[in-house]
Amino acid sequence: MKITVLSSIKEAQPDSLLNRTVIVIDILRATTNIITALQYGSACVIPFETIEQTKAIYTHRDLLCGERECRKIAGFDLGNSPLEYRTSIIRGKRILLTTTNGTRVIRQARLANHILIGAFINAQACAKEAIKLNQDISLLCAGTNDLFSWEDGLCAGCIVNEMVNYSEARPDINDFGLCMQSSFLQVKDLLPQALLQCANGKKLRGLGFEEDIAYCAQMNLTELVPIFDQGVILSQRSKNVCHS
Ligand code: MLT
Repeated sequence: MKITVLSSIKEAQPDSLLNRTVIVIDILRATTNIITALQYGSACVIPFETIEQTKAIYTHRDLLCGERECRKIAGFDLGNSPLEYRTSIIRGKRILLTTTNGTRVIRQARLANHILIGAFINAQACAKEAIKLNQDISLLCAGTNDLFSWEDGLCAGCIVNEMVNYSEARPDINDFGLCMQSSFLQVKDLLPQALLQCANGKKLRGLGFEEDIAYCAQMNLTELVPIFDQGVILSQRSKNVCHS
């Protein structure tokens, strides 16, 4: 089995997506947020690239959610802080979500066979689920404006490390994946501090989101591995009751 870590969407050529399982990673904060929203009972998450697309399908059973420049969009119900999603407000609702990088990259991965949503909070479960799907795997770091972000690379390294531990045969990991695995192993006991050092961590801290960073740095809080299929992110493959 081949495991390829892609530093950003710019590296994602069709052959790194086609016939593969792709794990999209934007730990600060889009993918952590999506996992949290589903864990706390939202019906589904529908990712959009633009604010206009997000508003276009809104009905009374939905919440308009997302950020620009890390701040809640004017007129929207919720921003992009995972802590906002841990309440009863979201129960049973469709989360219509647009973020600067994460939701755009999820949609751009659509050539893949299976698209999973990964973060530190579901790292081990995500690694196991991807291995079970029994195809070559690409871990796609969303990054920032199509450039690499270290926090996403660290999470990719964490998931690769879990895959190595879980696989029976040694997987064939690309060089960038090996770099990210060793980068993760070096800071794994100091993840909150590492996340505060990276550019997005500094930006979020400056805006008062330090608690979000502490939450996003926690490993294996949940077994839930969301799947993006036919335009919708769900917690279970079989229950697509939430069409966009
Ligand atoms: C993004 O998708 O660009 C991020 O999740 C931004 C943020 O942390 O709000």
